[in-house]
Amino acid sequence: MTSEWLSKRLLELSRLDAYIKPATNERVIKMDANENLALSSQFLNDIVSKAVSMTDLRYYPSEELEKFYEELSRYLNMNKKNIAVSNGSDQIIESLLSTLGKRANVTIVEPTFSYFINRCKLHDISIESIPLNEMDNSIPLSSFINSAKKSNIVYICSPNNPTGNQFDKETMLNIIESLNDKLIIVDEAYVEFGDYSLSQFVTKYDNLVVLRTMSKAFGLAGARIGYLISQENLAEIFRTHIQSPYPINSLSLSVATSALSSCQYFLEIVQLIRQQRDKMFLILRKLQGIKPFRSDANFVFFESFDLYNSIQEELSHESISIKALGDFCGYSGCYRVTVGTQEMNDRFIGSMRKIMTKDR
Ligand SMILES: Cc1ncc(COP(=O)(O)O)c(C=O)c1O
Repeated sequence: MTSEWLSKRLLELSRLDAYIKPATNERVIKMDANENLALSSQFLNDIVSKAVSMTDLRYYPSEELEKFYEELSRYLNMNKKNIAVSNGSDQIIESLLSTLGKRANVTIVEPTFSYFINRCKLHDISIESIPLNEMDNSIPLSSFINSAKKSNIVYICSPNNPTGNQFDKETMLNIIESLNDKLIIVDEAYVEFGDYSLSQFVTKYDNLVVLRTMSKAFGLAGARIGYLISQENLAEIFRTHIQSPYPINSLSLSVATSALSSCQYFLEIVQLIRQQRDKMFLILRKLQGIKPFRSDANFVFFESFDLYNSIQEELSHESISIKALGDFCGYSGCYRVTVGTQEMNDRFIGSMRKIMTKDR
C-alpha cells in the first residue's frame, strides 16, 4: 500500500508543467528544438569515430575530463579554475536550484526558458516574473531591479529563449552591479550567435554565474555537455560537492574536446547561420499578418495573431515542425523557428509565403 504522503506528493508533482519535448519523426523537417543541423553530419561522424577508437569505456572518465577542461579553457580564454562541466546546461540549472536555490526566491523576465520555470516549481522556489517591454523585448530595468532586490537569485537568458534577442550589455552589467548580493545566473546557451559574452566578467563579479552549452553552436545536443563559468570558489564547490563524481561519459568528453580543437569550422557555420537568420527575419517581416522579432540566436521568434492555427495546420501538411508557443503576457499566437540548412530555411519560407497569400 502506498503511503498517503507519497501519493499526495506524487499527485502534486504530476500536476506541475513538464518540459514538452518535440515529437520525433524521420520525415519531418526539424526546426523546433534549436539544434544545429547546418553542420556537416560527416564532419561530426568523423570526430565521433575518432573518439570511439580512442576511448576505453572500462574506466571511469578521468584523462578525458582533464583534456576537455584544457581545450575548453583555451576556447574560452579563461582559467580552468573558473569552469565546471555538466551533463548539459539543463543539469546545471537543476543542480544550482536544488542546492543554492533552497528557500530562495527568484526573479526572471517573462517570457523566458520554460525549463527554468518548471524546475523552480519542482523545488517550491517562488518566482517573480517581470514582463519584457513588448515593443523591443528589452528588460524594464527599474522594475526588474526593484523586484530582484526582494529575491536571492536572478535568472536571465541572453540571447533569450524564446524571444531571440541578446539584452543590452550595459543593462546586464547594471543589473549585476546593482544586485551585488544576489546570485545572477546568465544563461548564454546561444551566445555564439550573439554579439558579446559576459563570461570574462566572472573574475570581476563574484555574484555572476554564466551557463553555456555545446548543444547549439557546436551541434552536440546528443552528447549532453554544458558548463558554468563563475568565480573560482563557486566553480570548485560545484565540481567537488554539487556535481556527481562522473557526470559525463568519456565518449562525449572526447567528442567535445575534438570539436573544440576544430572550433574554426564550427564558428564558420555559426556565421552562415547568422546570415541565414537575418535573411529569414527580413523575409518574414515583409509578410502581412505576422510579426517577427530580430534575433541574436539560431532561431526566429514571431507572433502570428489569428493566423496561429492555420500556420500550424499548413506547416504540418508540409512536414515542417516549428515550436508552437501560443499566447503569453501580451504576445499572441507565438512561434519559434530554428534556422537550419539553406534548403530547410527555403522550404519554411516557401511554405510561409504560401500560407500568407492564401485566400481565407
Ligand atoms: C536557454 C537554454 N538554456 C539551456 C538549454 C539546455 O541546453 P543543454 O542541451 O546544454 O541542456 C537550452 C536548450 O534548448 C536553452 O534553450
